[in-house]
This record gives sequence, C-alpha cells and structure tokens, in this order.
Amino acid sequence: MSLRLRRPLAAGCAAVATGPAAPAAAMGAAPPSIPLPADAQSLLAAAGPQAARIEWLWWVYVAVVVAVYVAVTIALCSALWRGRRPEAGQADPRLDARLGRGVAAAVAATVAVLIGLLAATLPIDRQLARAERDQAITVEITAQQWWWRIEYDDPTPSLRVTTANELVIPAGEPVRLRLLAQDVIHSFWVPRLHGKADMIPGQQNAITIQADAPGVYRGQCAEFCGLQHARMALLVEALPRADFEAWLTAQRAAAAAPADAAARRGREVFRSAGCPLCHAIRGTGAFASLGPDLTHLASRRTLAAGSLPNARGPLAGWIADPQHGKPGARMPAVPLPAADLEPLLAYLGSLR
Ligand code: CUA
Repeated sequence: MSLRLRRPLAAGCAAVATGPAAPAAAMGAAPPSIPLPADAQSLLAAAGPQAARIEWLWWVYVAVVVAVYVAVTIALCSALWRGRRPEAGQADPRLDARLGRGVAAAVAATVAVLIGLLAATLPIDRQLARAERDQAITVEITAQQWWWRIEYDDPTPSLRVTTANELVIPAGEPVRLRLLAQDVIHSFWVPRLHGKADMIPGQQNAITIQADAPGVYRGQCAEFCGLQHARMALLVEALPRADFEAWLTAQRAAAAAPADAAARRGREVFRSAGCPLCHAIRGTGAFASLGPDLTHLASRRTLAAGSLPNARGPLAGWIADPQHGKPGARMPAVPLPAADLEPLLAYLGSLR
C-alpha cells in the first residue's frame, strides 16, 4: 500500500517530457506522484526512541481523556435520570450537603488528573531535551519560505556538505539537529522520529533524532509560515552506516563535469540564464545561497520541498512556471526556448 501524493504540474512539463508518459501528461492525465509508505508521516508508527516516547505519551493522554469522558457522561446521564429537585420554597439541607461533596470530589479528581498528566509529561520532556552523548553527526537545518537548507557539520570546512529538503542519516544512530529559521517562524516535524520543534529567526533550537531502521520518513513544516506552508515538506532517509558514508562522500564532491555536448551547453545556459543569482553548484563558480544548492540535485527524490517528483518533466515545468506547481514560490519563472531548456535539463539531470 502506498500513499500517492498528487500534485498539479505545469503544462510546460508536457512539452518536454519524454518517454511513454508524455502524451498522457499532454492530455492532462494524472500528474506524477511521489510514492511513500502509507505510514511515512504517522505519529502512531514511531520509528525511533524519541518518537516512541511521544507515542507512549499520546496513548496515555488518549486513555485518560476517554476515561474522563466516560465518567462525565455517566455522571450526566445519572443526574438526568434521577432528576431530583427540592419542592419550590423547600430547602433540603441533606441534598445540598451531598451536592457540595460531589462538587468537591469532582474538583479534586480534576486536579489529580491534571497533576497525573503533568507527571507523565515532564520525564518525557526531560528525556527528549537531554542531548544524547556520542553523536557522531550534527546537521544544521535552516527553514525558509518554503524549503529546508540542510548542512552537515564537519571540523574541516571543505568536508561540509550542503543540500536541501532531504535529510539523509545513518540508521540506528542519534543525530543532533540544530534548527534555525531564515525569515519567519517555521516548525520541524517528522512525526515518526520526533515531536514538533519550532524554528525561530535569531534563535537556535536543537533536538536529537534517531531512526532505528533504514527507511524514508516524511516530515512537514508544522507552523503556518505563509502561502506555501502546506508544501514545505521534508524527507528523512535513514541508510545503513556504510551506505550513509558513501552518500556523504559523494555529496562532498564538486559537481561532475558535463559528460557530453548537451550537458556542456546546459551548464552555459545555467550560467547565462540567471540561475547562479540564487543557486550554488559547487565546481562551477555558482555559489549563491538564496535557493537550494543544486550540486547533487539529481540525487534527490523530490523538487520544490517535496512538491514534485524529481524527474525531467516536473523539473521542466518547475523551471518554466514555478507558480503553477507552487503558487507564491520565490523561484522566478525562467522562460527559456526549447533549444536552451533541453540542454539545461540534460545538465541538471546529470548532477548526481
Ligand atoms: Cu514553514 Cu510552515
């Protein structure tokens, strides 16, 4: 079973999409989808120790709230059923005393329940706040309208890695996340790995996440941050340690040199079409940081913060008309003749 996340797609993709899907896309058929497991974003499918604590607390709250609801309903029904009232003008001191005791008992029970919930919450909060020792990896994540900059720390500056919207971590290890915001308040939330953590301009928050098993976990900005808040998604991919090391090594490399004439032409288009004003591709002299780093764009699963699958057609549509797939996106439309768009797609598609 898989969750198919359907997204509208710029008509432009159809024009340059290749392969059997092209005619269907041109006729307005179902847009490409991003296949993910059905529980990729479920709080009730904890995939690590931090999320497991939150899930346990969630069930405690559900049990207590259901018990309170049942108790109140029984008390209400019982009161309606008995319906005893003193005759008009006749006080009943015994009934008054019993009602007084009932109200006092209900207040005491309410206070006890609230204190009990607080007592259950505080240790979990402390455990989540405690930084795990021996974290080999620290990743800085900066939220901005409407995507995630992801930077892997390293004491050696040349070994730092910058990517976007897809956080890759080793499975079974705690990873420290430093959470920042560039413009407005956002919130980091990958329900299978941790609770929500605010990302506030000018302030650094930190959480530790751990995925016990390899897999892909979906996250979502959880604080309204503007027009495209709903399309500010994030994928976390947990890999076995060796695969993670290989991924990190590959990400540290500068962009591969174009392998053929089309890709070489595409690199020239990238340089001349204004792309380097916002984007970086290491090894090409493009180093702007307004938009996502594109050095290894083709290695990612999605475009536009989880809005589109990373494939040739959607990428073409995204370049030609970003406002169609993601209204409000900061990416300006880059109208290019097909003679330029085709090589640009070939070049971007080669950035693995
Ligand atoms: Cu970022 Cu909501």
